[in-house]
Amino acid sequence: MQSNIIRHPAATVRILVRKLFVVGVGPGSPKYLTDAAKEAIVKSHYIIGYKYPLSTIEAIIDKSSQQVFQVTMQTQEGVYQDIYTKMKDGEYCTIPFTGDVNFSESEVVDRLLEIFGSENVEVIPGISSIQVAAAKAHIPTDKAFIVTFHVTDDIEAKKQEMLQAVRQGRSVILLPRPWPRDRSKHFMQSEIAKFLRISGIDTTKLKVWVFEHLTTEKETTFKGTAIDLEGKEFNDLSAMVVDQTKRQTYLNF
Ligand SMILES: C[S@@+](CC[C@H](N)C(=O)[O-])C[C@H]1O[C@@H](n2cnc3c(N)ncnc32)[C@H](O)[C@@H]1O
Repeated sequence: MQSNIIRHPAATVRILVRKLFVVGVGPGSPKYLTDAAKEAIVKSHYIIGYKYPLSTIEAIIDKSSQQVFQVTMQTQEGVYQDIYTKMKDGEYCTIPFTGDVNFSESEVVDRLLEIFGSENVEVIPGISSIQVAAAKAHIPTDKAFIVTFHVTDDIEAKKQEMLQAVRQGRSVILLPRPWPRDRSKHFMQSEIAKFLRISGIDTTKLKVWVFEHLTTEKETTFKGTAIDLEGKEFNDLSAMVVDQTKRQTYLNF
């Protein structure tokens, strides 16, 4: 059992420790799971997660000694609060997230920081689908405009920022927004290509990549021009690249 003891001349104060690991587990394949993530998962008494990240860590979960809770957007709040209340001093909980925790997950992570208290939360970064897409398309992330539309908040300002980046000749690496029940909020590859075209971009010349199911056995790659994306459907689990990279080596400087 682990607990923090704060020694004071007058008294010994024992602080309750209910530690939460918020862990990025990579885009799907366990090959992209770091040792740091594995260590946190293995020592946790409770594991709470969405179906997809739970499947990534399946092989290292021991259901005979760890309590595992699969949640959805609708059930997560109740489970987080319930486990926080139930956890005893010295117990650990892991919440796995697809890819990196610090990319396109803040709507949930910010709530976890509120429930568990920032001081009790350790964030363990993971490899993002954005990084894997960048690697596949040979795009340096430091030169690209990187954006997620996979948020519930309004995305109009982000759309304008992306447009500006394309006009400036920068590459873009993005996560689209699947919202099939409300087509006005759905902003997948087809809608993105149309948005760029009606905003004045020549999409017949704009090179794009779409990667579905990255790192898994279902992985696909589409390479073409943005105009080809209009009317095309891709899986929710996809990342897109607008490729305007101009190669510049140290010989250029
Ligand atoms: C809520 S965001 C989470 C992003 C994640 N934190 C990351 O760093 O990759 C979910 C979106 O990430 C993208 N994504 C996650 N895993 C992916 C994969 N294996 N292949 C392609 N896209 C993926 C998809 O666009 C998916 O809809």
